Amino acid sequence: MTDRASSRARLQDKVCLITGAGRGLGAAIARRYRDEGAVVLVNDVDGANAESVAQELDARFYVADVSDPGAVRGMFAEALAAAGRIDVVVNNAGISGIEGDDEKSRERQLLSVRQAEEVAAGGPIETHVDVTPTLSDEEWRRMIAVHLDGTFYCCREALAIMNRQGSGSLINMGSIMGTSGGAGAPHYCAAKAGILGLTRALAREGASRGIRVNAIAPGWIDTDMTAPLEIMRPLIVAQTPLQRFGDADDIAWAAVYLASDEAKFVTGQVLSPNGGWHMSQ
Ligand SMILES: NC(=O)c1ccc[n+]([C@@H]2O[C@H](COP(=O)([O-])OP(=O)(O)OC[C@H]3O[C@@H](n4cnc5c(N)ncnc54)[C@H](O)[C@@H]3O)[C@@H](O)[C@H]2O)c1
Repeated sequence: MTDRASSRARLQDKVCLITGAGRGLGAAIARRYRDEGAVVLVNDVDGANAESVAQELDARFYVADVSDPGAVRGMFAEALAAAGRIDVVVNNAGISGIEGDDEKSRERQLLSVRQAEEVAAGGPIETHVDVTPTLSDEEWRRMIAVHLDGTFYCCREALAIMNRQGSGSLINMGSIMGTSGGAGAPHYCAAKAGILGLTRALAREGASRGIRVNAIAPGWIDTDMTAPLEIMRPLIVAQTPLQRFGDADDIAWAAVYLASDEAKFVTGQVLSPNGGWHMSQ
């Protein structure tokens, strides 16, 4: 095999389960993994999207809500029975908290943009991003449930399998919001920060068996999740040294690297493709 040919199959025959892979970053990761020779297993709570991506990639798919521990247990049991092993799990499923609520999305963006304009003009700041006082228990709990509980449930099932195998790699989807914070999304920022802490704890726990655990902390990436951000978009681009939103492949390549043997000395780390928006994780 030439160097070029071998570099094309960086995940040859690795069994890789990707949550939230029905669209967006998860689907992009699934495509790159398949191209790198992986046996891809697609998860999403949206059955139609999961099936469509699975069909495209000739992959198995599992419709399960990652915030439901029973559904997660069932998915891993089925996946293990079908594939015989699980080498990589990408915990990518997530929500923004403003899905389908255009009015709320617009209001929060306007507050942030107005406040940034006031700061740029030298103050005084008269616009306040008052989201937390009105954030409901349900909004808070659902966000933590999908991101943090979901990542924990999937890591728990995956590690039970990987510990027996004596090998494996977990990749958890964080965000620049987990370290930089972001006004207007306290529940999202808290969930993503929790995922980074969980990642570091599991990296230490898994190391004695050679199981690697890392996180990706994307910056602002063009997907359905960020599509409603049209009001903030110019501000975000202006704040980004590389002067653009990322595309899904910018994240997929990071996920390929972390899953591959090229990253065999990398554990407990946060890789953050973010165009320079945030420079410390
Ligand atoms: N797009 C960005 O700018 C950005 C930045 C930082 C981090 N992220 C994170 O990357 C991940 C993917 O984001 P995206 O932009 O592709 O979003 P997206 O909304 O386009 O896709 C998310 C996918 O997750 C699925 N999903 C949601 N809840 C689920 C659940 N409970 N169980 C299983 N599947 C579920 C959705 O059905 C959807 O297919 C998320 O964790 C998100 O927080 C995104």
